[in-house]
Amino acid sequence: MSRVAIVTGGSRGIGAAISVALRDAGYKVAANYAGNDAAASKFTEETGIKTYKWNVADYEASKAGLAQVEADLGPIDVVVANAGITRDAPFHKMTPEQWHQVVDTNLTGVFNTVHPVWPGMRERKFGRVVVISSINGQKGQFGQVNYAATKAGDLGIVKSLAQEGARFGITANAICPGYIATEMVMAVPEKVRESIIAQIPTGRLGRPEEIARCVVFLVSDDAEFTNGSTITANGGQFFV
Ligand code: CAA
Repeated sequence: MSRVAIVTGGSRGIGAAISVALRDAGYKVAANYAGNDAAASKFTEETGIKTYKWNVADYEASKAGLAQVEADLGPIDVVVANAGITRDAPFHKMTPEQWHQVVDTNLTGVFNTVHPVWPGMRERKFGRVVVISSINGQKGQFGQVNYAATKAGDLGIVKSLAQEGARFGITANAICPGYIATEMVMAVPEKVRESIIAQIPTGRLGRPEEIARCVVFLVSDDAEFTNGSTITANGGQFFV
């Protein structure tokens, strides 16, 4: 019987590559998205993966959306908390709204995605949680006090969940992608982006599939002993 996986932010960018990689690895995949209906329809057309619309920042919407996925596909075994946004600004210009938007989506969104499915994972004695953090949660970044705080917080979440879930066969791990060629990174001003690429020893942006491959490993049935870890995939830009 194939396992069921939900990928938040799963119809675009890194999330889309994760959804496809899990499908190819034999999982029944549901891809959540927040707002871009056109991109979601195109994704479903191209991949056959069904999309589900809700805002991960909203607990009740997340709970209802996850329940719908379970009604359609069966109990969720694998959660990939990937949905994330940026609202970059130097700290002195950052507004409380920019702070809250990023915290609500990137940090509270992880709580909202994992919390509703956690009791079922405990009961069934199996679960895989992967949170997509960021290089900038490890090293900080000019213009990203909000984003870096949430991505560092994601690491605290998985390290704690790993300890709580272990005896129930549940693992929780994080991946810290570096700069990957997605719309989010392409939105960084070109000059800034070029200076960032110059700091990557591999000499290029990463590919979404290079992150998806890490997820496929972490969620596999035989990866139980890898728990609470952080996989760093950044082309050698930063070491912890
Ligand atoms: N380091 C040091 N100084 C910097 C700097 C940096 N990285 N970036 C800008 N500055 C300086 C500027 O040179 C400028 O100095 P002066 O006033 O002396 O000229 C000053 O800071 C203010 O700069 P700006 O007026 O350009 O500031 P701004 O209001 O336009 O905002 C910014 C700039 C939004 C922070 C812009 O630099 C930016 O977008 N930076 C990219 C941040 C980034 O890396 N985001 C990652 C997005 S992708 C992602 O998040 C995915 C992931 O996980 C990796």
